[in-house]
Amino acid sequence: MKTNEKIIIYYFSATGNSLKAASVIASLYEQSKLVKINRMNVTEHPDSSIVGFVFPVYMGGVPDIVYRFLEDFPFQDNVYYFSIATYYTYKGSTLSVVNKILNNKGVSLNYGNYVPTVGNCLKEYEVSAVKRPAILERADTITDKIANDIKDKTEIQPSKYCGVSEKLHKSMFNIFFKDTYKKITSDDNCIGCGICSKVCPVNNISIKNKKPQWSVNCQSCHACVHWCPKNAISLGRSKGRLQYHNPDIKIADLF
Ligand SMILES: Cc1cc2nc3c(=O)[nH]c(=O)nc-3n(C[C@H](O)[C@H](O)[C@H](O)COP(=O)(O)O)c2cc1C
Repeated sequence: MKTNEKIIIYYFSATGNSLKAASVIASLYEQSKLVKINRMNVTEHPDSSIVGFVFPVYMGGVPDIVYRFLEDFPFQDNVYYFSIATYYTYKGSTLSVVNKILNNKGVSLNYGNYVPTVGNCLKEYEVSAVKRPAILERADTITDKIANDIKDKTEIQPSKYCGVSEKLHKSMFNIFFKDTYKKITSDDNCIGCGICSKVCPVNNISIKNKKPQWSVNCQSCHACVHWCPKNAISLGRSKGRLQYHNPDIKIADLF
């Protein structure tokens, strides 16, 4: 049964795993709002006593765009704050970092939890089609439990630091993903359809002479690589690897 409280969930998602988790949580409320985290700044506090942040783990930490969004967020007292991070195999200290940002603003996370699911970092690896159904089934089970925890306003503090500092995670991210925009390319299979530009969560891709061009604001999220209908976009060693998107999320959900 749905609760008649109002929930607002801010999400960042490239291949739909985090959007799927956010949608499942929202589905338990009569009044829910899903808001994409992008370059906008939140200036007004949302009119809700339940506010969530859902996004993927990037190199054991919080994606830069989400980090900056949280730093600007107008947190308030008497709000139930939760955060869910989706990840593949290594969650690092992601939600401890979120909690630290909140603590610096005088509040704290009421609930923090993780959903292990299919990894989308095609630059580094590919998750085989054979393995995906079992991973997704487990993710759905965990997400359902998390959604009910939140509905019951359960209090769960995120696990502590994993032993690797936030600074080291950030340096590792920079080593692996800095200047990604210089390394993404499209090949001759590109038909100039512009889907890459539409799915980019930060509007970083423009189409010039029927070819995509990446600007400096790339978040390394891989949305353009995974959603290209011709698999024409590659990032480093990702060329030829199997694309992925969450089977319950349609491309239009990300526009
Ligand atoms: C740049 C980048 C870095 C990532 N780093 C990690 C990581 O450190 N640990 C991990 O388990 N998964 C990592 N992943 C995988 C994503 O966290 C995972 O696939 C997530 O569910 C994707 O969410 P989305 O579909 O909402 O974009 C990374 C993915 C990308 C694109």
